[in-house]
Amino acid sequence: MSDRERLLAQLRGRIELERWFGVEWLPRSTAQRPAAPVSREAPRTTGSASALAAIGAEAAGCTKCGLSRTRKNVVFGVGNPAARLVLVGEAPGMHEDETGEPFVGAAGGLLTRMLAKIELAREDVYICNVIKCRPPQNRSPTIEEKAHCSPFLFRQLEAIAPQAILALGGHAAKTLLDLPPETTTGSLRGRLHRWRETPVVVTYHPAYLLREPQDRWKSLDDLLMVKKVLVGEV
Ligand code: URA
Repeated sequence: MSDRERLLAQLRGRIELERWFGVEWLPRSTAQRPAAPVSREAPRTTGSASALAAIGAEAAGCTKCGLSRTRKNVVFGVGNPAARLVLVGEAPGMHEDETGEPFVGAAGGLLTRMLAKIELAREDVYICNVIKCRPPQNRSPTIEEKAHCSPFLFRQLEAIAPQAILALGGHAAKTLLDLPPETTTGSLRGRLHRWRETPVVVTYHPAYLLREPQDRWKSLDDLLMVKKVLVGEV
């Protein structure tokens, strides 16, 4: 990389970080206007609250793996059953296990702020995980646990029939796209994938972004791709 390219990359990172922290405009005549906001959720006829409730009831009684013995709550999913966007994370943590709701801890706070960047609130979308029960000590879910639990995720997605899916981190991306364990999240970013017919955007997990804030600007790019899918630009 030349000095000029390095400088431009640093400058771009800096501008994206400023944007992340709320600076929307820079005083340059060439500054781009933000794209039109994604409209608030219009009522849709697809998606089915009752189908979701039935799948949720089944998950609540699931004993297919050992996580059922240590969980406090099954963390099935929350949000709009007719959402145009579904966010898929990895597995519940301690706070989620306590409350039964996904992404309520620190990573959840960041996720809410990420969504706000594309003018979406948590109530507009549907949020769930690949794994519905907390792995002890927040360890990574095993291949067997994912194999037992992912059918619930796939049925949720079938019931909601969203316009787009945002995969948060490697476990979500590799489960949805059926990819081998060694695939990295970084290698999947920046292009559209498909779960069946539905477009999938891959981004970093918010917990990773809490640890590595210098990568937050990359997730902004990913969110802008989601927005483009939702407004039909791609
Ligand atoms: N991390 C996840 O992947 N899901 C949650 O619900 C919380 C943290």
